[in-house]
Amino acid sequence: MPTTLKATTYNNYIDGAWAPSASGETFENRNPANTDDLIGVFQKSTRQDVEAALAAAARAYETWRLVPAPRRAELLFKAAQLIVERKDQFARDMTREMGKVLNETGGDVQEAIDMTFYMAGEGRRMFGQTVPSELRNKFAMSMRQPLGVCSIITPWNFPMAIPSWKIIPALVCGNAVVFKPASQTPLSAVNFVKVLEDAGIPRGVVNMVTGDGDEVGTPLTSHEAVRVVSFTGSTHVGRIVNKAAAPGFKKVHLEMGGKNVIMIMDDADLELAVDGCLWGGFGTTGQRCTAASRVVVHEKVYRRFVEAFVDRAKSLVVGDGLDPKTQMGPSNSESQLQTVMKYVEIGKGEGATLATGGHRLEKGAYARGFFHEPTVFADVDPGMRIAREEIFGPVVSVMSCRSLDEAIAIGNGVEYGLSASIYTQDINRAFTAMRDLYTGIFYVNAPTIGAEVHLPFGGTKNTGNGHREAGVAALDVFSEWKSVYVDFSGRLQRAQIDLEEI
Ligand code: UN1
Repeated sequence: MPTTLKATTYNNYIDGAWAPSASGETFENRNPANTDDLIGVFQKSTRQDVEAALAAAARAYETWRLVPAPRRAELLFKAAQLIVERKDQFARDMTREMGKVLNETGGDVQEAIDMTFYMAGEGRRMFGQTVPSELRNKFAMSMRQPLGVCSIITPWNFPMAIPSWKIIPALVCGNAVVFKPASQTPLSAVNFVKVLEDAGIPRGVVNMVTGDGDEVGTPLTSHEAVRVVSFTGSTHVGRIVNKAAAPGFKKVHLEMGGKNVIMIMDDADLELAVDGCLWGGFGTTGQRCTAASRVVVHEKVYRRFVEAFVDRAKSLVVGDGLDPKTQMGPSNSESQLQTVMKYVEIGKGEGATLATGGHRLEKGAYARGFFHEPTVFADVDPGMRIAREEIFGPVVSVMSCRSLDEAIAIGNGVEYGLSASIYTQDINRAFTAMRDLYTGIFYVNAPTIGAEVHLPFGGTKNTGNGHREAGVAALDVFSEWKSVYVDFSGRLQRAQIDLEEI
């Protein structure tokens, strides 16, 4: 019996109602570990749906912006609590559609919980500044104000965490949102939006439209009703988003590619470094923007490191993320897997040493999924494409260096700047690297992944466009400053001119 007959159909969420797309068309969401498993059928939406969602958001904004921020936050606290209650189910749904192992999808949901509690707390802070005026009987302060309708466009690798990083700060600041989740992970988006609905967020404040980039993404980045576009995805698509939003002078927040480096010095705790490289490189099957896809090792410990790292990579258990024995799940899609395989060929062609892995896994239980061996290239030259381009898969490139200076130069020698790390016992080396790596995130004696929600998250160079999400920095994306002067002198006082003699 074709599985399509059993599949649940999920709708868009527009103006407080779950409704099908005007197109009458849908798309399928299948499990990347087993494509026979049809998770659900989702709306293949059109521009018309997006316009309805934007109109609903624009209407709802006018009342939502006037709800006192601490009251808005109460609803977000409720939402956070609901995610806590539904965490296990959400994690299972996410593993089924995204592929990463259960403890990682649990972490993804936890990150959404953390962010929602954290940002709800901002409802009673959202600090502005009060400053003394240079004139008598005049009061001066700054305050945050919302912008209006925000487009939220998110990737499939963190299907609940990343939407929460954007939607929750947008809401606490008083904005309304239209959310387009990745087409590979729409069930997690439905789960998240349902939580917001159940928490009592008023109709129209949050809207969700599923579908592809051309039909749904394009109007979300260019429509005149949109004031903010927050996008996480590839640098290639980020550039398209940036251009589409530019003529309307929208505020654009972009979070894009990475080619993150772990530097291992000759005084490092090697066992700890191997643990870190394994988690950083193969956690989430390498499909994190923060993945440690490059490792630079001091020549004195290079051979020892490569041997131990390759041994451990070989022993990783690859499989269905729902199986508790699995340590690494599949790639998220056939095209993602094809990219991995393409880069394996590129690496071999460039003359790097394929130290382990390098093959698609297709036999037996792997036959219906997008599985690939954990792959390590050794003796990589920093100029090779596998050392410079984002692969977004289980492929790690290992290079050797002669000094900290050389490691830093290699670390900085790519177009991206999200995250970097150093393993060393020497505090001087740690602080030097912390200062000189031009990235948005830096770790000492830990891998390049593991950011927490209360510090800024984002990167330099082609990783981002200067904004940060998470932490208080996220408020800067979803609010604008207004400076307010109140003159209670009862007469005209001219700033910079009517200076008083003392
Ligand atoms: C991403 O890589 O897309 O720091 C997000 C981390 C996670 C978030 C990653 N907390 O790896």
